[in-house]
Amino acid sequence: MGVRVEPSSKEAVAELIRDEELDTQDPLRHLMDLEDGGILKLSFSHDLAGVPRPLEITLAVDASPGCGGIAWPAGQILATYLVQRGSDCLRKKNVLELGAGTGLVGLVAGHLPESRVWITDQEPILPIMQKNVQMNRLTENVFVAKLDWCVVPAPPTFRFLDYFSGAFRRLFQYPNQDIILAADCVYFEPAFPLLVETLDELSGTSTEILFCYKKRRKADKRFFNMLKKRFRWEEVMDDPNREFYNKEAITLMRLFKR
Ligand SMILES: C[S@@+](CC[C@H](N)C(=O)[O-])C[C@H]1O[C@@H](n2cnc3c(N)ncnc32)[C@H](O)[C@@H]1O
Repeated sequence: MGVRVEPSSKEAVAELIRDEELDTQDPLRHLMDLEDGGILKLSFSHDLAGVPRPLEITLAVDASPGCGGIAWPAGQILATYLVQRGSDCLRKKNVLELGAGTGLVGLVAGHLPESRVWITDQEPILPIMQKNVQMNRLTENVFVAKLDWCVVPAPPTFRFLDYFSGAFRRLFQYPNQDIILAADCVYFEPAFPLLVETLDELSGTSTEILFCYKKRRKADKRFFNMLKKRFRWEEVMDDPNREFYNKEAITLMRLFKR
């Protein structure tokens, strides 16, 4: 005779299956604070000319569309580093952020003089990104676009649809961005080759890629094995906060195309 599954245990099994499905889509979801969305105020101190002092970012956060809806430490570290690099670091540069989530890094980049920034992610995250661009009054130079690593717009398209205006805007020099930013984008193994492919597609030999990486699993090694075929990298050494975040298994790297 087979084991009879009581309704309550059926529900438990169904919930387990649902949990597993959600874990497959978003392996970081157990690390998220699943409380309702809210507003964060983040402040970056600096002595840069031409940048509001302190630089304050108002950030809507909401975990419901996925792990990108909250502010992850790697993003805060990369944003802080950009501010410390000086007001000229993004001047007249085309900046593209991958897996931007709330957009924190790109919003900070958008405050640096004469930057032109695209923050990109998957579709469900775009509304929160756009809200954050508007709340921080950066609609003139920070643009939101869908860029799923599975579907990188290939030349000769050369342009992304601006989520807010619905207009196609051309990216200068695409596919060779001046600067690509990515924080905490290595966590989902099936996406490893897609991310490497996307970095490769969007960069040229003069592109600087600032890549803030949080080590979580041994499997991440596979990502770096794929990456090294197309890129070389070095650890960013001129960040005074380095020793603090290294203790949290976070590394800020600079990648260059081979
Ligand atoms: C851990 S979150 C980091 C978010 C943000 N960079 C930060 O540091 O707060 C990872 C981000 O990668 C994005 N992502 C994952 N897979 C993606 C894909 N295939 N295409 C585009 N973005 C993706 C997620 O939506 C999410 O925003």
